[in-house]
Amino acid sequence: MKAAVLHEVGGIPRYEDFPDPVPGDGEVIIDVKAVAVENVEKAIAAGTHYAAEKYIGHLPVIPAFDGIGALPDGTLVGFGNPRLPYGALAEKTVVAEGSYMPIPDGIDPSVATVMASAITAMSMSTAAVLAPGETVLVQGATGVAGRLAVKVARLLGAGRIVATGRDDDRLREVRDIGADTVINTAVPDEALAQAYLDARGDGYDVVADYLWGRPTQILLSALKPRTFAFGKPTRVVQIGESAGAGLALAAASLRTSGVEIYGASKGLDPQTMDEAYRRIVAWTRSGELTYDVEKVPLRDIEAAWQRTDLKGRRLVVIP
Ligand SMILES: NC(=O)c1ccc[n+]([C@@H]2O[C@H](COP(=O)([O-])OP(=O)(O)OC[C@H]3O[C@@H](n4cnc5c(N)ncnc54)[C@H](OP(=O)(O)O)[C@@H]3O)[C@@H](O)[C@H]2O)c1
Repeated sequence: MKAAVLHEVGGIPRYEDFPDPVPGDGEVIIDVKAVAVENVEKAIAAGTHYAAEKYIGHLPVIPAFDGIGALPDGTLVGFGNPRLPYGALAEKTVVAEGSYMPIPDGIDPSVATVMASAITAMSMSTAAVLAPGETVLVQGATGVAGRLAVKVARLLGAGRIVATGRDDDRLREVRDIGADTVINTAVPDEALAQAYLDARGDGYDVVADYLWGRPTQILLSALKPRTFAFGKPTRVVQIGESAGAGLALAAASLRTSGVEIYGASKGLDPQTMDEAYRRIVAWTRSGELTYDVEKVPLRDIEAAWQRTDLKGRRLVVIP
């Protein structure tokens, strides 16, 4: 079969022949239909993500640990955790029976593979219990997941949406998809702190944070009341770390501001996960929630892997 093959950690996957996977006991072959390539796949391949350890013992290896494909009976499924060295970026892969779930009818595989990013935005509801009319701040709204979060915030009934990014043209696009106010974070610290304050209106109720690092540190610091006052609660949901894995959190940022910080998995159980998924599927099917994808054939993986011009569109590889 043809596959994207990574020969060394830090290398670029190459389109080449690879032995077909042979299923062992309790395993099933998947005919791969679509695979979203996210930063995490690139970080693993580059050796900068903790999961890279697992890869090193299996080189040459096929990257990507989830995707959309067909079972031998033709059922379209979302699958995860292929047995290494097999990954998702190939014509076929092999997973343990049960490491997949059916994709609802009427959802294209290239969209289905991006839906997971939209589901993270549902943490505004499951973790932060966003109520209709509340003000939302999306940190990292020019990215794929952040753009989806702006759309999902609107669908969840947010009253006002403030969105951040680093590029004015892309921030204009984010306005077009539903943000009321945008903030460019690529400004000096003090100017950014002031921009957060100027845009907050009555205060941010929910922050969907795909950034962490410098912008979120400045935000949390800016939310400290300047005078003695009861801070309005701001529920910060930590979802991604595009701007940094850590930040310095001043004690006063929590003590006096009313800020609450949650992980995106707060509030998740089988029932809330199922409900979040169903709502995303319903909005996707109805066309209320749209996805910006850039489809490329597997044979172009080497060039596609190195693209830097995607600007908020998800790279989706079609074997
Ligand atoms: N928990 C989950 O299941 C899940 C799912 C999807 C994503 N995520 C996480 O969410 C984050 C975003 O993912 P994505 O796929 O949307 O990535 P993406 O498309 O690359 O978007 C990244 C966003 O972060 C901004 N950004 C990047 N580096 C920055 C920096 N140094 N300072 C300030 N802003 C910066 C980008 O701004 P520009 O537009 O200016 O580049 C963009 O808005 C990642 O950490 C990802 O792992 C988590």
